[in-house]
Amino acid sequence: MKLQKFIFLIFILSISFMITNCTREVTIDMKIQKQAFGTTPGGQEVLLYTLTNSNNMQVQITNYGGIITSILVPDKNGKLSDVVLGYDNLDSYIKVTPYFGCIVGRYGNRIAKGQFTLNGKTYSLATNNGRNHLHGGIVGFDKVVWTAKEITEKEVLGLELSYLSKDGEEGYPGSLSATVTYTLTNQNEIKIDYLATTDQPTVVNLTNHSYFNLKDAGLTPILDHQLMLDADAITPVDSTLIPTGEFMPVAGTPFDFKNLTPIGERINADDQQIKYGLGYDHNFVLNGKMGELRLIGKVYEPASGRVLEVLTTEPGVQFYSGNFLDGSITGKNGAVYHRRHGFCLETQHYPDSPNQPNFPSTVLNPGEKYQATTIYKFSVKK
Ligand code: BGC
Repeated sequence: MKLQKFIFLIFILSISFMITNCTREVTIDMKIQKQAFGTTPGGQEVLLYTLTNSNNMQVQITNYGGIITSILVPDKNGKLSDVVLGYDNLDSYIKVTPYFGCIVGRYGNRIAKGQFTLNGKTYSLATNNGRNHLHGGIVGFDKVVWTAKEITEKEVLGLELSYLSKDGEEGYPGSLSATVTYTLTNQNEIKIDYLATTDQPTVVNLTNHSYFNLKDAGLTPILDHQLMLDADAITPVDSTLIPTGEFMPVAGTPFDFKNLTPIGERINADDQQIKYGLGYDHNFVLNGKMGELRLIGKVYEPASGRVLEVLTTEPGVQFYSGNFLDGSITGKNGAVYHRRHGFCLETQHYPDSPNQPNFPSTVLNPGEKYQATTIYKFSVKK
C-alpha cells in the first residue's frame, strides 16, 4: 500500500514537472518573421516584420518609415484583434498618410514658420503645414527606408532600425545617425528606444505616430475611450498650433485628464484652445522628471476592456484626437477613417522648442547622445 502511495506521488511530481516545462517552452515561443512588403518608386525593397510574444500578442512593423502597421492584443474575453489604424499595403502608405504608425523625425511636431537659429545661424525648413514646418518636412523619417536588424535574445524580441539623415536633409544641419529599436516583451509591452548622434549641432525630436482605437482599430469614434494624463499644464497654442511659450494650468479646463475621463466628454467645449485644435491637438507638460521612465498616461476602453498604459522619459506628450481624419481614407479591412476614429499619444519634447528659450532644449551637439524611451503597455480590465 505504502509503495503504491509512493508511486502515485512520483507520478504526480513528474506530471507537474512536465507542466512547468511546457509553460517554460511557451515562454520561449516568441518569434520574429519577415516577408516582402513591396518596393518603393525608387526601387528599394521593403520588408514587413511580424513579432509574436508568448501570449500571442503580435506587432507588425515595416522598415518603410518604421511604421507599426498592426498591433493584435486580447480583449477582456481573450479575443485578439487589431488596435491601430493603417493600411494593408505599402503603396497606400507611400501615396497618402496622416503619419499612420510611423517614426517621426528629424523633428516631431511643428517649428514656427519653418525657421530656427542655432549658434547664430538661421536655418530654413520646408513649410508643409500652412506657414509652419511639421513632422520633419516633405520627406521626413516616416518616408524613408530604414536598415533593419532583427534582435532575438532570450525573452527579448526586437527590431533595430537605423537611418543616416545627411547634412542639409530637409534643411536641417549636420548628419544625424538615428537608431530606433522596437522591442516586444512578454508583458505585452512595445518598448521604443530612440538614439541619435550628430556630427554638427542640430535639433532632434523623435516620436511614434500610432493612431490607436482600442475598440475596433478605427471603425468607430474613440470618444468613449477614457483617458488619464499625468499633466498639470499644457503648452497653449495660437491658431496655427504653435505654442505661445506659456504654460496653461489644466485645472478647471477641458484639458484636465488627471483622472480617467471619456475623451468625448469635453471635446466640443466652448474653449479657445479646443477651438484652435478642432478638439485635442495639444502638448501636455508631463509631471515627473524628464529622463526618468515613468507612467504618464492610461487609456481604458470599456466595451473591449482593453487598457493602454504609456510610460516615457520625455517631458511632453501630444494628445491628438484625430480631428483631421475626414473619411477620405479607407484603411485596413475596408475601415473608413472618419473624424476622431483614432487618437495619438506622441511622446516628445515640446513643439517649436528650437524657438522657445523656456522649453527643454532639443539641441544635439557632436559627442552627445540623444536618448529617449517610450513604452506602450497593453492589458485588460474585466
Ligand atoms: C499633429 C496634428 C496633425 C497630425 C498629422 C499630429 O501630430 O499634432 O496637428 O494634423 O499630426 O496627421
